[in-house]
Amino acid sequence: MPTLDPTRRELATLRAAIRHHEEQYYVLHDPEISDTEFDQLLRQLTALEAEHPELVTPDSPTQRVAGRPVDGFETVDHQVPMLSLDNAYDEAELTAFDERVRKGLALAGDEPVAYVAELKIDGLSIALHYRDGLLRRGVTRGDGVRGEDVTSNVRAIRGIPLGLRVAVPGDIEVRGEIFLPRSSFDKMNASRLEAGEPTFANPRNAAAGTMRTLDPALVERRQLGAYLYHLVEQTDPPWSRPQGHAEALDLLVAWGLPVDRHWQRCRDIGEAIEYCRAWADARHALPYGTDGVVIKVDRLSERERLGQTAKFPRWAMAFKFPAEQATTRLLRIEVNVGRTGAVTPYAVLEPVQLAGTTVQMATLHNAEDVARKDVRAGDYVLVEKGGDIIPKVVKPILGRRPTGDDEPRPFVMPTACPACETPLERGEEAVVWRCPNNQCPAKIRRGLLHFAGRRAMNIEGLGESLVNQLVDTGLVTDAADLYGLTTEVLTGLERMGAKSATNLMTEIESSKDRGFAQVLFGLGVRHVGEGAADLLAGRFGGLPGLLAASVDDMEAIDGVGPVVAQSVRGFLDDPRNRRLLDRLTEVGVRMTATRPHTVDAREQTLSGQTFVITGTLATMSREEAKRAIEARGGKVVGSVSGKTHGVVVGADPGSKLAKAEALGVPTFDEAAFRQLIMADR
Ligand code: IVH
Repeated sequence: MPTLDPTRRELATLRAAIRHHEEQYYVLHDPEISDTEFDQLLRQLTALEAEHPELVTPDSPTQRVAGRPVDGFETVDHQVPMLSLDNAYDEAELTAFDERVRKGLALAGDEPVAYVAELKIDGLSIALHYRDGLLRRGVTRGDGVRGEDVTSNVRAIRGIPLGLRVAVPGDIEVRGEIFLPRSSFDKMNASRLEAGEPTFANPRNAAAGTMRTLDPALVERRQLGAYLYHLVEQTDPPWSRPQGHAEALDLLVAWGLPVDRHWQRCRDIGEAIEYCRAWADARHALPYGTDGVVIKVDRLSERERLGQTAKFPRWAMAFKFPAEQATTRLLRIEVNVGRTGAVTPYAVLEPVQLAGTTVQMATLHNAEDVARKDVRAGDYVLVEKGGDIIPKVVKPILGRRPTGDDEPRPFVMPTACPACETPLERGEEAVVWRCPNNQCPAKIRRGLLHFAGRRAMNIEGLGESLVNQLVDTGLVTDAADLYGLTTEVLTGLERMGAKSATNLMTEIESSKDRGFAQVLFGLGVRHVGEGAADLLAGRFGGLPGLLAASVDDMEAIDGVGPVVAQSVRGFLDDPRNRRLLDRLTEVGVRMTATRPHTVDAREQTLSGQTFVITGTLATMSREEAKRAIEARGGKVVGSVSGKTHGVVVGADPGSKLAKAEALGVPTFDEAAFRQLIMADR
């Protein structure tokens, strides 16, 4: 083992520590340190790497989100098609599967087949390619034959290592599932619901939607997870080839890849069926969604003999858990006022056990939906967990509807806001009713909770009951009022001791420095999610720049569409919002952009320079190299001319290298190029 100088040693130690904590958090769901401590480690590493740019490695945890959003995704072919799975819905179908397998293998009598049972992760499949231990590419399943190259987003998933723990030589491909943990899904949908935006039906759709975004920084913030379950067969691997699937999974773990640890080797189909029974309930306690169990023949030689149909392997079967439904009494229909004033009905239920939790409320979407399904207070209703998370009312059980005098009456949507009695108005999206009153206490409360939320100004301790008190006592009517609070005023509130008051004041004070993207997101401008707020803050640098920007200027940003641009302009043109922004500025809230999660605000060292990239780079894709140049203000063009400032040369360069040499254009090999894009002036 060569001895390392102290800096290299420190870098290696920090990187290993960060990787360890990424695994604890994102793979094992068992964090050993707080988020703040993790961020500190990451900041320490970023600072040390900034002092020694030549020591930055492509698999360093600082290299997850690099550059700006991508333009789009390239379509690429899968070398081995990505198959889907046949489904079984009950135990008899599993037994029939086992019989087919034993027949296919021509096994005698009751000779059993060994299986591996794994949880079926509710996400979207992904193929990861590593070369010499470094993550090279991530491709979605697509139609199974061709998928999209989503490498930039895959790199932003902290559960996926950028480099393997063991420097596995050559090319390997591993497949698995990308998913959104329940907690992230709940948070995401809650804020969408409040913003009057459509919610995602289940974590799978939410994960797929996230992977389609062009902004890796957003992917990182959504905290996706990944579990791998398939090592694609390699011809002549330099390591000893596993004989069974269980062994292959152990190999993946040894390489540092994320594997869901709940798999089990089963001696026969009976044990696999037991596994399905056990997990049908136990799964509800997991931090991520599973919609079934996948049962796979363990021995790889047996798999080979069984082969596949056009769509499915004959050696695997997905057992689907039954949908979780229950019937209960719908006691009342109430309405909720969201941050944007959207008034939506929800059902208050007689408590019922559903998918492992007690359910007392279910969404009813909107008034039209209630009328269409004819759901009434007093009905028995069928409730279901959509994607196993948010319960919804499926339908009334009409056969059990009381008759005569007790017959429930149809729901009538209130015409006035339940919180402030202002007549409701229909929004542009006809199905949503809104309270138009900007002083509506329900809207103010929701707005403040959003402003103080973790992903906005992150004011810890400012929860629902405190916000209610602050609004009800008239102490706070908007976000700027929060900054006028004092310890004395706070200690006068119910259940607020001196220590909590001081802590809250410290939190409020430190929130001033979060940066403009967080302010913009926190103010809850319609249609402006975290991603758009980040892009706008990054592009215009802060409030003054944004105020001067036209709708066209905003739309020129990739990832900002006309709806967002117009909404932002409308918000800024409203004098009341301008006053609020002025007051926030006066109390010292930072109105300039910071980029805590991305390395986008780089010095524009390549401003005005044009580059050409030729050949294959070992540590990054061409697209990544292009984005790195653009992040520095440079431009990438297709052909070399006398005006080209530099040519980046990878392996097997084309005629462009010869042309560059002939014209005397400087060339950069990969190491020199890395220095170029890392170095500040
Ligand atoms: S094995 C050829 N294992 O379920 C083997 N799939 O409904 C292919 N899935 O397309 C897949 N968890 O996206 C396998 N432990 C697991 C899985 C799993 C989730 C997904 C996968 C597949 C789909 C089929």
